[in-house]
Amino acid sequence: MLASTLLQVEDLHTQFFTSRGVVHAVDGVSFHVDAGETLGVVGESGCGKTMTALSILRLIPEPGRITSGRILFRGRDVTKMTDEEIRAFRGNDVAMIFQDPMTSLNPVTRIGRQIEEAMTAHERFTEQVARARVVELLKRVRVPAAESRVKDYPHQFSGGMRQRAMIAMGLSNEPDLLIADEPTTALDVTVQAQIIQLMKQLNRELGAAMMLITHNMALVASLCERIVVMYAGRIVEEGPVEQIFKSPQHPYTWSLLRSVPRVDEARKNRLVSIRGLPPDLISPPSGFKFHPRCPFVIDKCKSDPEPQLEEVAGAQIARCWVLMRNVKEDSLEAAKQSALSHEAAEKLKQASAAEMGGGASA
Ligand SMILES: Nc1ncnc2c1ncn2[C@@H]1O[C@H](COP(=O)(O)OP(=O)(O)O)[C@@H](O)[C@H]1O
Ligand code: SF4
Ligand SMILES: [Mg+2]
Repeated sequence: MLASTLLQVEDLHTQFFTSRGVVHAVDGVSFHVDAGETLGVVGESGCGKTMTALSILRLIPEPGRITSGRILFRGRDVTKMTDEEIRAFRGNDVAMIFQDPMTSLNPVTRIGRQIEEAMTAHERFTEQVARARVVELLKRVRVPAAESRVKDYPHQFSGGMRQRAMIAMGLSNEPDLLIADEPTTALDVTVQAQIIQLMKQLNRELGAAMMLITHNMALVASLCERIVVMYAGRIVEEGPVEQIFKSPQHPYTWSLLRSVPRVDEARKNRLVSIRGLPPDLISPPSGFKFHPRCPFVIDKCKSDPEPQLEEVAGAQIARCWVLMRNVKEDSLEAAKQSALSHEAAEKLKQASAAEMGGGASA
């Protein structure tokens, strides 16, 4: 492990033991986060991003648990920490910002008081110091008129302001690692842009490492240095953002990048979705899990065990028998044509959900 490595996740397995069977939510994931860097974790809904993050905090809900692997934070294994140690770890070293601030804020407690409580709960700051820091923190996340707004209740804050308050709370204990799980998904586009701007500024000012979980590739492009691409509980590609955006080697990454809305495309075609559905994580398809949806599939993908993550260029690694650089121009064109419109994909999803009568994958 390098001196600058803050977090090292090794072969993490997190499973849910349901009446339908075992859900392999996180299925052998390994990655690291260096001190001060911003790592993006991307992939469609249900691929295990949140469960990876919750595993790091040891907050996996029932009926789930970490079944194997190591999570080393500055060399100490989180999976082996005592209850007391894990509380101190959550309070001092790492903070998580969730998608929907309203569910994480207490509606009957004033915003300022909640941030204060977050600080004093871990006994790092006295109550007096905490109170003084609250206004400073709200100013830091650019909440206007912070002095008076500390006394507001969450419902008096707009969605964007609530997310700022959540970020302030996350920063209150000066964590070395900030995990933001879809921090802008619940917000409208203009507010999203403001929060992204804020996160960029904070990133520069604080020097804390950040793990940014999102399905928004544009957000990754503007904030991250490196990305990890997940599919069905596993990492399929990883590497420097610029390199991956320029030359994705895994067909799934390529498809994800194809689904980024582009301003130069006709409006009705703006959102292209990846054809088909993510696999059932209880009984996934044989061979490589992405094969039923992969436009470049070969026989080997269906029959052989999954390929290993291998270096494809510089610090970029990918798990694929074919790799995008070996795909012929004509199959590439055909694949582009076969991508479904967002609307069609949504219909397909709804039809399939109705057919399965709900199902476990969310
Ligand atoms: N409470 C639960 N019970 C059973 N399975 C669950 C539960 N929570 C999550 N999962 C499974 O874990 C998988 C990963 O979920 P999650 O990490 O939340 O995905 P993401 O954040 O990438 O959208 C999902 O596909 C889902 O099937
Ligand atoms: S291994 Fe096969 S199915 Fe998987 S991404 Fe590569 S080509 Fe597609
Ligand atoms: Mg999630």
